[in-house]
Amino acid sequence: MVALPITVVVAALALAGTSGARLNPLHHSGAASPYFDAPSQFGISPATPPQCVVDQAAYIVRHGSRFPEPGSFAGWQALFAKLQNASYTARGPLAFLPSWVPPVDDIPHEPLFLSSTGANEAFSLGAQLRKRYRFAPGGDNLTVWAAGQQRVIDTANYFLQGYLSQGNYMTEPGKNRGTIVAMPDSVNYTFADSLTPSTGCPAYSSGDTSSKANVYRAAYQPAVADRLNQYLHGLALNASDIAVMQDLCGFQAEIDGDIRFCDIFAESEWLDYEYAHDLNYYYGSGPGNPLSATVGYPWLQAVTELFLHGPDNTENDGDNFVPSTH
Ligand SMILES: *[C@@H]1O[C@H](CO)[C@@H](O)[C@H](O)[C@H]1NC(C)=O
Ligand SMILES: *[C@@H]1O[C@H](CO)[C@@H](O)[C@H](O)[C@H]1NC(C)=O
Ligand SMILES: *[C@@H]1O[C@H](CO)[C@@H](O)[C@H](O)[C@H]1NC(C)=O
Ligand SMILES: *[C@@H]1O[C@H](CO)[C@@H](O)[C@H](O)[C@H]1NC(C)=O
Repeated sequence: MVALPITVVVAALALAGTSGARLNPLHHSGAASPYFDAPSQFGISPATPPQCVVDQAAYIVRHGSRFPEPGSFAGWQALFAKLQNASYTARGPLAFLPSWVPPVDDIPHEPLFLSSTGANEAFSLGAQLRKRYRFAPGGDNLTVWAAGQQRVIDTANYFLQGYLSQGNYMTEPGKNRGTIVAMPDSVNYTFADSLTPSTGCPAYSSGDTSSKANVYRAAYQPAVADRLNQYLHGLALNASDIAVMQDLCGFQAEIDGDIRFCDIFAESEWLDYEYAHDLNYYYGSGPGNPLSATVGYPWLQAVTELFLHGPDNTENDGDNFVPSTH
């Protein structure tokens, strides 16, 4: 049976292979892009080999595509104010800037929350895993563990609706065939038993303490601003604006499908943007942070225990659930 802890993915998006076609900026935008599957590695197919049967699987997922963090959104608003308040002309690939409007129309509610693209991603993952594993025919109590943020709980909900397709009784939880166990984050490091172990570790809280990503950004962004400023008269973009505009390619693609910001940067500029993301995640939550393994260990331990327990546990104590083989 499937153990589906819906929890924190630190650096979720892998990179697409380059195939010789024009580079797709959405495959080089780090966590700003909508989700896409990484290409299979070393030619290994994700399909179950014909002689095998899967009776347990574990997926760690955090949340689907979302609206920006409040801090990022403040940057979008600052760019908007700059573009609205100047008297300037824009041409070529920047001709749309004077009429551009940030894609957040419900400011108190949208920042950080799941977008419709994110809801679709979670639902599709559920449908896809149902076809892959065929676990949980009707009546099973499929358990998803979720961290406490609304976007994570919403992702778990959409996942279950995609997986179960029916019977997710929002108003009659007792009839649910899927159960979401939502666990709050540690507050002030008071407890470690959560799905976000990093919030229980004070020493980890500062995240990426290297300045490598910022140094790299500062090295490439001014030249991009200079290149684009040839299309503007009466207004000058700077490095901060370039940072916001590159983020807007992925974010606006997933929020409202507008990809005009994707079209204004050169391939080498996308590769620089991508590499800055790589540095940020490598030194923030990857092997470059000496505490990454420490805060990731609780996930590894919990999933290992579920697999060691095996698929036929009947305790249904919230850690496991009963598989059905018919
Ligand atoms: C333009 O600038 C003024 C003064 O700095 C500010 O009050 C106003 O909100 C800005 N306009 C926009 C559209 O942000
Ligand atoms: C966490 O600690 C801060 C600083 O001591 C305090 O202001 C805040 O109220 C605490 N939060 C909770 C939920 O206890
Ligand atoms: C870019 O310009 C904005 C104002 O338009 C300013 O707030 C910001 O600090 C500038 N960034 C850099 C890197 O100069
Ligand atoms: C379903 O599982 C959850 C936790 O995994 C448990 O709290 C609940 O009692 C179970 N419901 C049924 C009907 O077995």
